[in-house]
Amino acid sequence: MILVTGGAGYIGSHTCVELIEAGYDVLVLDNLSNSSRESIHRVEQLTGKSISFIEGDVRNGDILNVLFNTHPIDAVIHFAGLKSVGESCENPIFYYENNIECTLKLIQAMQDAGVKNLVFSSSATVYGDPQRLPLTEDMPLSATNPYGRSKLIIEDMLRDLPNADRLNQAAQPWSVTLLRYFNPVGAHKSGLIGEDPNGIPNNLMPFISQTAIGKRECLSVFGGDYDTVDGTGVRDYIHVVDLAKGHVKAVDKLLSENGIDGVQAFNLGTGHGLSVLELVNAFKDCNQVDVPYQISGRRPGDVAACYADVSRARDELGWQAELGVRDMVKDSWRWQSRNPEGYSDIMM
Ligand code: NAD
Ligand code: WQD
Repeated sequence: MILVTGGAGYIGSHTCVELIEAGYDVLVLDNLSNSSRESIHRVEQLTGKSISFIEGDVRNGDILNVLFNTHPIDAVIHFAGLKSVGESCENPIFYYENNIECTLKLIQAMQDAGVKNLVFSSSATVYGDPQRLPLTEDMPLSATNPYGRSKLIIEDMLRDLPNADRLNQAAQPWSVTLLRYFNPVGAHKSGLIGEDPNGIPNNLMPFISQTAIGKRECLSVFGGDYDTVDGTGVRDYIHVVDLAKGHVKAVDKLLSENGIDGVQAFNLGTGHGLSVLELVNAFKDCNQVDVPYQISGRRPGDVAACYADVSRARDELGWQAELGVRDMVKDSWRWQSRNPEGYSDIMM
């Protein structure tokens, strides 16, 4: 059984579907601070399986101990965390408190229970301002905002665990997989689950979808003068279902005979960069909808381009992205148009 913290969220819900379809039992722990119980119902609807769902906070060590004592948990995927860069700049304490304490409580409970297989949701943000592209996992790490720093601190904390195992000659060592996501977009092809941001979206794809449906008047394209193909920012967009499948591969590897030795990081992206305007135009063309936009000033903190070298995930996890930009924009639009108010809509 796999414990999925934050499993009601955007990436977590898609991962639950793929885990169940791969034959794993899942147990979800989520405090619903940025998600809805409805996502779990829809995962159940999609898979035809019921999910053990606990509404609770990962910072609550008592809940964790009960879960480890009462369920045959083999590994944990740790999605639970706060993820808004802007909000983290306004309220860093909140971000450090939530993201770091969740992880501390979780690894303590895992150690106490003797369950030492962990997949952690890291981010391409840990590469800071990229010195070279494409980004490989061994490049220098840094943080440019408190959210990114919380991910970096957690990565560092996790890297200390195998060192302690060696010192303590632990009979059962830690196996930790750090998955560094690039830019997750898209939704399940059923249109039943997808990204449901609170308020004004920070990220590009939900902003495009909400503009297309008329909830937002106009997309601001942040910067038209970068040294890129058309002057707009370039990112490595990855379909959330591909990302979810990457988690299944990571769990398969952790639980296999030649599992993960200590801590290993993997980039999860497509390896290809796409500009803002390339994504907007693909969205318009594939979905036959209008997306009014205007070029505005650069957003502070943005880099011109960021994309992954994905060879390590391909060679060592046997994973690579299969879905392209057409799938990303079509599936995002299907989710948005069928659920204009996200999970607060009545079922279609
Ligand atoms: P999300 O907000 O949709 O999901 C996170 C889930 O964690 C939510 O359901 C939320 O309710 C839950 N949660 C938060 N704090 C909790 C706590 N203290 N106890 C229990 N549950 C808690 O976000 P997502 O996009 O699915 O991201 C999942 C993970 O991936 C996060 O750790 C995020 O930082 C990381 N990540 C996301 C992106 C992205 O662009 N979406 C990119 C890189 C990394
Ligand atoms: C993508 C591109 C913007 C909105 C963020 C986090 C990162 C990771 C993924 C969690 C950029 C442009 C955006 C808009 C625009 N999350 N844009 N108009 O900044 O690459 O990464 O999400 O770990 O840590 O920083 O993603 O979707 O915000 O931006 O022009 O309204 O779209 O300038 O070029 P980003 P994004």
